[in-house]
Amino acid sequence: MSLSFLEIHNLRNINHTKIEPAPRLNIIFGKNASGKTSLLEGIYLLGLARSFRSHRAGSYIQMEQQKTTLHGKLKSEQSENITAIGFEKSLKNTELKLKGEKIRRVSEIAKILPIQILGPESHSLLDSGPSLRRKFLDWGVFHVEHNYFEVWKRYRRALRQRNSALRTNPRIVSSWDNEFCETAEQIDNFRREYLASLKPRFLDNLAQLTDLEGLKISYRRGWAKDNPLINQLKTSLERDKQAGYTGRGPHRADLVIEYEGVSVDQRLSRGQQKLVVYALKLAQASLFDTRNQSCLVLIDDLQSELDEEHRSRVLQLLSNTESQIFITTTDANLLETSYWPEKKMFHVEHGNIQEVV
Ligand SMILES: Nc1ncnc2c1ncn2[C@@H]1O[C@H](COP(=O)(O)OP(=O)(O)OP(=O)(O)O)[C@@H](O)[C@H]1O
Ligand SMILES: [Mg+2]
Repeated sequence: MSLSFLEIHNLRNINHTKIEPAPRLNIIFGKNASGKTSLLEGIYLLGLARSFRSHRAGSYIQMEQQKTTLHGKLKSEQSENITAIGFEKSLKNTELKLKGEKIRRVSEIAKILPIQILGPESHSLLDSGPSLRRKFLDWGVFHVEHNYFEVWKRYRRALRQRNSALRTNPRIVSSWDNEFCETAEQIDNFRREYLASLKPRFLDNLAQLTDLEGLKISYRRGWAKDNPLINQLKTSLERDKQAGYTGRGPHRADLVIEYEGVSVDQRLSRGQQKLVVYALKLAQASLFDTRNQSCLVLIDDLQSELDEEHRSRVLQLLSNTESQIFITTTDANLLETSYWPEKKMFHVEHGNIQEVV
């Protein structure tokens, strides 16, 4: 699937715009504050119904307007099928549409429109707590394993109920243990399998982008090895009661990335960290190619923190995937895109977006 049409109404400084992106590479260029990141935000909102920039409800709705409205058309590569999607957000209401029908769950759109975002904040995947890395992993598993979302919801419910019992009704805590352990094992297996397919791609990408030979990535599942989770829940029951919280399980998992025995966020330069994150996220994107599906990759400010050689390496790596790519930059001359067969350039100025031909 690629986004073949996008219409935006009242998103930040974009009043109204319509574009027809290329199926592969799209370069969005313009001065600071012209509206480039807002365009990416529009695409992201369409696929995920939330912003990657701000969690404050509706902060992206244009000042003095009531709502943001987005329309998109997705074109399948295999057939000529077009799927219409829509998103409308006012301060009170969110409305999602798929094929002209209102839908309630954003996962229905997320399933057909996987989106990866890489931007100036991407290094936070490495230097903030484990929860972003679990989300990263779970996003990948969600797109591969169609049962994952259901299992994950069951697990979250069991965890919530167990935690609440720990605080208010300790006698019934263990009644949640079977459901908790059953779903925990499934989540763990799914994550492990996924990481096994991701890892070789990640290491290949890393070798293309950097000279960081010997960088290690490993998975910590959230409870000790060689001892069933159910036993560990029993032995840590008193501690859990005191904490009011379940201390073991997949909600404590992490993806550990180390270079020369030190966590990468403590050891690598910002540019190197950025490249590690590119290698990870583009490995995820490339896994879609193997399943005849493709992923949208949004890259905000490619040039920041990358020198000419590394920008060029990133572009070369991108050119090997089937993903549809949107890259923003303040200076289109900084991006060497001559080896791309198909591309479109869009110039952004004061919220107006024009294709450059
Ligand atoms: N709710 C809003 N209503 C109107 N304008 C807004 C709103 N939120 C942000 N803006 C403005 O929209 C403009 C475009 O912002 P955006 O972040 O898209 O720019 P950009 O082209 O990505 O810039 P940079 O190159 O600095 O990253 C900015 O001037 C910003 O102040
Ligand atoms: Mg920007």
